[in-house]
Amino acid sequence: MSPSGHDHSHDHAHFDAAASTWDADPAKLERARATAVLLRDTLGLTGTERVLEIGGGTGQLSIALADHVGSVLVTDASPGMVDVARSNIESAGLADRLTVERLDLVTDPPPQGSFDGVWAQLALHHVRDVGVLLQRVKALLSPGGWVAVVELDDDRAGAFHANYENFTGHDGFDRTSFANLLRDSGFHDVSVVDAGSVEKELGGDHQGRGTFATFLAVGRA
Ligand SMILES: C[S@@+](CC[C@H](N)C(=O)[O-])C[C@H]1O[C@@H](n2cnc3c(N)ncnc32)[C@H](O)[C@@H]1O
Repeated sequence: MSPSGHDHSHDHAHFDAAASTWDADPAKLERARATAVLLRDTLGLTGTERVLEIGGGTGQLSIALADHVGSVLVTDASPGMVDVARSNIESAGLADRLTVERLDLVTDPPPQGSFDGVWAQLALHHVRDVGVLLQRVKALLSPGGWVAVVELDDDRAGAFHANYENFTGHDGFDRTSFANLLRDSGFHDVSVVDAGSVEKELGGDHQGRGTFATFLAVGRA
């Protein structure tokens, strides 16, 4: 249990409930495609990499990048998300390269073997102790491997998660602090660039749709 009295199952319940309608939001599909282009351009993918995705949700980002890497193990803490990702991957005919596993790298034993790269889109702000997660990621990477994290910029007003009951994650990240967190977790050659924005229906005291800036942070193992 966390100091606030919520255990990890809390996040699962939120995302389990959201899983079946997640892909009905065109902004989410567009977002996955835009991030895929950015990662392709930034990482210099060779088509042979063994990749791990953290908090992959319905699998759209890895599906969009499937033709540019060797394989992806798509992981997510939410059983509901994992079911949708598996079905999306099968429908896309990508089950030979993309596999799905329910996994929370903070609390579960790590997957077997090592990886050439790890990517995560809008997942790390749900992880309370991001430093611990990044150290686990570092341990899973082969030397010279990379981690690529797309995250929300600092959202001090908390508008992005206003609709999210009992949110216990981070209201975005300050870019400089996130880069330092990567360095403190053992990564080098850290770079941070703009990654466009994400649109979302607001809630609570906030009205209408909001646009939130994001960044891509990359570090080498
Ligand atoms: C905002 S969604 C993003 C999903 C997907 N990456 C996307 O961009 O559409 C956050 C995802 O992270 C997952 N998640 C939250 N905490 C996690 C953890 N500790 N380990 C793995 N996945 C987690 C959630 O289940 C959810 O699917």
